[in-house]
Amino acid sequence: MSDRAPPIVLGIETSCDETAAAIVTGDRIVLAEPVLSQIEEHQAYGGVVPEIAARAHLEHLPGLIARAIREAGIVFDALDAVAGTGGPGLIGGVHVGVMTAKAIASVHDLPFLAINHLEGHALSVRLVDEDVAFPYLLLLVSGGHCQLLSVDGVGRYRRLGTTLDDAAGECFDKVAKMLGLGFPGGPAVERAAKTGDSARFELPRPMRGRAGCDFSFSGLKTAVRLAGEALPPGALGEKDVADLCASFQAAAVDVMADRCANAMKMFEAKSERPAFVAAGGVAANAAVRLRLEELAGENGFRFLAPPPRLCTDNAAMIAWAGIERLKLGLTDSLDFKPRPRWPLDAAAG
Ligand code: KG4
Ligand code: ZN
Repeated sequence: MSDRAPPIVLGIETSCDETAAAIVTGDRIVLAEPVLSQIEEHQAYGGVVPEIAARAHLEHLPGLIARAIREAGIVFDALDAVAGTGGPGLIGGVHVGVMTAKAIASVHDLPFLAINHLEGHALSVRLVDEDVAFPYLLLLVSGGHCQLLSVDGVGRYRRLGTTLDDAAGECFDKVAKMLGLGFPGGPAVERAAKTGDSARFELPRPMRGRAGCDFSFSGLKTAVRLAGEALPPGALGEKDVADLCASFQAAAVDVMADRCANAMKMFEAKSERPAFVAAGGVAANAAVRLRLEELAGENGFRFLAPPPRLCTDNAAMIAWAGIERLKLGLTDSLDFKPRPRWPLDAAAG
């Protein structure tokens, strides 16, 4: 790596149903970030099918990387490192991404970085805002995770709370499926909720008012199902669906705000107005962002969330986490084994 020029890193993301490659520089310029969503391939099944996902990554990843290089206007030899998601995630897809990243690194004699997908989400805010210093409070809300963490540094995380059952995004997806809104559910629920009446259905707020900052969403999901079943027999009308989505989203947002308020009290701030960051797919939701921003203001925090395209799965965050690790010399060996489970806070499990 040159001492003078900021590093240029290729990032590869294949842990779920997005095949993505990105080229990012150490001075925060995203030179290219092509993404190929596999939504159509999985839609008929109402969720991501791991085997189909792995095959689709295998088919599309090489072309996508070539496109990223072309769009960035560089050659492979201009790269300083290759970073690939090493887990957690659907292991078939992770294998495809890791093997591809290792092959490119090895052929071009570049450092290889195995990135924890969750660390990608956790550090993504620093790609868009250079003033986010450690430590910051993070709400990581995606399809597989719902955690509150103190981000103390690169590779240094302390978990303050987590979900006891479903992740928030998983709950959005299940509610969408129940209401026939298709997959992926989060954006569909958010769209339907816009025209709905959030006061029509009285839904529970699991964990609200409890000490600590753990979450629970499965009771809320069941309550949405029961509320739908209690309506007169026959197909749910458009208004019923919109009202159910709005009522559900309001309950989910209330729960998140309550848990985050407790986390703000538990967080050991090192600055006057610490950052409170939301990341992961659910942080793309405008109602979630708005409420968390209000909450941060009330509690003396500065609210930050990456733009929606960097909240949902993407390779720019993997390249960026690679840059952060490369600067600290935290490269990985080519015998790295993909990790289907990989908690950010190993002590919390
Ligand atoms: O971070 P992500 O793309 O993948 C994982 O690492 O899981 O998050 C995907 C999750 C899905 O459950 C999806 O329904 C949810 O994020 N999501 C949303 C929205 N956009 C994506 N949930 C609520 N509102 C949204 N606008
Ligand atoms: Zn993710």
